[in-house]
Amino acid sequence: MVSFTFLGVLLACTEKFLVKGPEHLTVSEGFKNPIGFYNDTPSFSWKLPVSEAVKLQSAYQVIAATSKEFLPNNPNLWDSKKQESPQSTFVKYQGEQLKSRQNVFWQVRYWNQDGKVSEWSAINSFELGLLKNADWKAKWIGLNTAKDSIKGVRNFLMHKPQYLRKGFELSSDVTSARLYITAKGVFDVHLNGKDVSDDVMTPGWTPYNHRIETLTYDVTSLLQTGVNALAVELASGWHSGRISRGRALYENFASPKILCQLEVVMKDGSKHTIISDESWKGTTNGPIRLAGIYDGEIYDANFEIPDWNTATFDDRSWELVEVETISRDVKLAPKRHHTVKNQQVLKDAEIVSVDENSAVFNLKQNMVGVPKVKVPMKKGDTLKIRFSEMLLKDHTFYTKNYRSAKSTDYYIAAKDGVVEYVAKFTFHGFQFVELSGYDKNAKPESSWVQGIVQHSDFEKNGTFTSSHDKLNQLQSNITWGLRDNFFDIPTDCPQRDERLGWTGDAQVIAPTSLFNYDTHAFWTAWLQSLRENQSEHESGLVPWIVPDVLQINRASPGWGDAVVLIPWNIYNITGDKRVLKENFEAAKKWIGFYKSKIEDKEFIPKMRSFGDWLQPYPTKTGKGGNSGDTSKELIITAYFAHSSLLVSKMAGILGHSKDEKEYYDLHKNIAGVFRDTFFDKNGKVKNVKETQTSYLLAIYFDLLKPETKIKAQKHLLEEIKKADYHLGTGFIGTPILPKVLDDMGEIDLMYKILFKETYPSWFYSINQGATTMWERWNSYSQAEGYNPQSMNSLNHYAYGAIGQWMYERIAGIAPLAPGYKKIKIAPLPNDRLTSAAASINTPYGLASTSWKKDKETFILDVVIPPNTTAEITVPNASIESVTVNGHIINEKSNIKLIDSDQGLINILAEPGTYKIQTKL
Ligand code: BGC
Repeated sequence: MVSFTFLGVLLACTEKFLVKGPEHLTVSEGFKNPIGFYNDTPSFSWKLPVSEAVKLQSAYQVIAATSKEFLPNNPNLWDSKKQESPQSTFVKYQGEQLKSRQNVFWQVRYWNQDGKVSEWSAINSFELGLLKNADWKAKWIGLNTAKDSIKGVRNFLMHKPQYLRKGFELSSDVTSARLYITAKGVFDVHLNGKDVSDDVMTPGWTPYNHRIETLTYDVTSLLQTGVNALAVELASGWHSGRISRGRALYENFASPKILCQLEVVMKDGSKHTIISDESWKGTTNGPIRLAGIYDGEIYDANFEIPDWNTATFDDRSWELVEVETISRDVKLAPKRHHTVKNQQVLKDAEIVSVDENSAVFNLKQNMVGVPKVKVPMKKGDTLKIRFSEMLLKDHTFYTKNYRSAKSTDYYIAAKDGVVEYVAKFTFHGFQFVELSGYDKNAKPESSWVQGIVQHSDFEKNGTFTSSHDKLNQLQSNITWGLRDNFFDIPTDCPQRDERLGWTGDAQVIAPTSLFNYDTHAFWTAWLQSLRENQSEHESGLVPWIVPDVLQINRASPGWGDAVVLIPWNIYNITGDKRVLKENFEAAKKWIGFYKSKIEDKEFIPKMRSFGDWLQPYPTKTGKGGNSGDTSKELIITAYFAHSSLLVSKMAGILGHSKDEKEYYDLHKNIAGVFRDTFFDKNGKVKNVKETQTSYLLAIYFDLLKPETKIKAQKHLLEEIKKADYHLGTGFIGTPILPKVLDDMGEIDLMYKILFKETYPSWFYSINQGATTMWERWNSYSQAEGYNPQSMNSLNHYAYGAIGQWMYERIAGIAPLAPGYKKIKIAPLPNDRLTSAAASINTPYGLASTSWKKDKETFILDVVIPPNTTAEITVPNASIESVTVNGHIINEKSNIKLIDSDQGLINILAEPGTYKIQTKL
């Protein structure tokens, strides 16, 4: 007893010397304890706890083992040993080769700035999915629905959705079970009548001719001793739907199919595997009669098949499926980002109008997903559900901008009473819902319609707020626009007959998205698809859209450059070098594409270009005006130069010194030709039309000599003045406008442009009622109605790219070194605001900035996470007037003065919480 107490005291004493262990452990691009994981050479990240005792990491140790029990004493997979290093993000696994299905348990500890060791973290784990095609014993199966397909919009053939099932027996209890599954099409899987997951439209969209993503589910608790049934609903989705353009791309639009493999470990240790094969049965006579991404779903309750997905169902009358073996050419790979899920429910609908046949509901937010309708119906009647993003003046639907997308769902009732329906294999972009065909005796109620918001599953990563309502509405429109268009891939728009992965739009919005949401894995997954589509082209061409269902072999500057710019931005915001490594060769190939297009003019490739897409007030009217007025040659040459420079920088970071020099020299040469061709000695655009964007590109990409650049800046200001201080930029110019003006010190001007209420401006669409970003600066006006062009999406994220500047400079928080290892806090207060704040969940923990000011004081609250440092620039301040946490800055502060200049004070701060106050 005595010795026991003594041991307790001893332990307590040692505990005291330990600092708190690391938290928030993740693998690779931010995955938390994943199963079915895709990466057998993962990296590890952790965060240090926020504590007075922990400022910096001086060393770390990661250990990994095949079983929890082996940790920490017997790490039989990997022991990094103590590494003297501050690195706490993306530490590469360097242990034993990992295999499909393998379980890895891992832990980490660190040493703080004083060399004190921490406790071990909690044990985390990951389990690999099926990494190789050879791991699959299953076969592709399905009914031949091509045979009796139905003619849909534009005579496009539609496959009838399928119901597939297989009963099987398990002779003893189950210890663990994994279901590996995917589809050519989209599926929903059930085990013994229960939903296996809440995923939506799986497996998502990749270039299916290269790679199909697979999902892994832990189904241990759904299995039972005795009879069981595995059942799958299957529809066309992207693979076999109209969205793939009717081109003979994916095996001539073969009927949708599933592939699944259920691996069960029994109590006695034996293994049992159930696979998709010729023994499965199927029918197309189920309730989902038709389903398409563009056109909607038809559900007929009269065809419901009670208990079809349970073990007791008799499927003798069902057809046997057709079988196809797995091809070696199409890689089956675990999904490398999160699936789409139902994320939010908009419950607060408002009835806008009711007539004898229909009722219109307003969800008050342009959203993406499906409605949940709960409506009284009469047997045999058809409920028609229509959608629209906005209304026409007479409260009828504006659907011209859906173009050929029917975007209509139907529900046919099997009995009298209230029905509840949520479409499964489609999604819509809408704010308004029109119902007709419900029980005419019932009075419509607002509760009949709710909006189920769907998007890829990522966490919110940042917040931005200010004292200005319209600026806050802009932030809301930006973030809605992002979520609405991150539906497994980054789409241009979510509603019309397009919904494609346009590379230019993606490139423009990627940084803003990374500030607001944890989209690291989302982007790196899509970049893999981009590389796969690029690999189809010897020339290095990056197609307009990814997955490339257009297959028209065309590329555009500012679009194809996604392969350079997105990895570069991801690296800077996350600090993960892997994204550079993965995309470096592809980025080089893209530069090779530019080179291959050089004909008669040195360093000026001859190729297509979308120009400065959708610039306001273009000289040409109608469709012809879409590419704006900036010279296409100028844009092509500017991007060629800029991407070459970034490739050189990537090479430098990756240690490829030969490439670093080669691409730098190339950049210099292109820049030389650029300035000689397009600019005169006075920094004025020559030979081509002067536009805001021509100046912005030359200045931001640093393509002019320093003395000419200063002159060009003046011409830019003149262009802006000519536009009565409005922006005059399209997709290409808009994201760089704030950066250039900021760099020039034209902060007031930038605020002035941002706060403009009249067309073209960000607030203009808000004044017209926008709840998302619009495709055009003038998609709609209360006075004149809708832009007559049918290309008029009210949910297009490109102009939301201003979001980055709102974080970085209005609130004032940005990475100064990749991944926020060093943080820049540099807000730009302006008289239009009395406060602004932003927070970011950086790879090191929460960082935030929040400022407010009145006539006399400016207060800046800052939080800096452990294992980082921050450079804080306090505006309108002098050394004498500043206090930090109530004290003047002196030798003893944990904040060091770097310099003070022209009313700015630059200080270096270690992790902690600061209240900085200045007298104005
Ligand atoms: C898309 C765009 C895209 C553009 C290219 C449009 O149809 O919606 O956003 O970038 O085409 O020109």
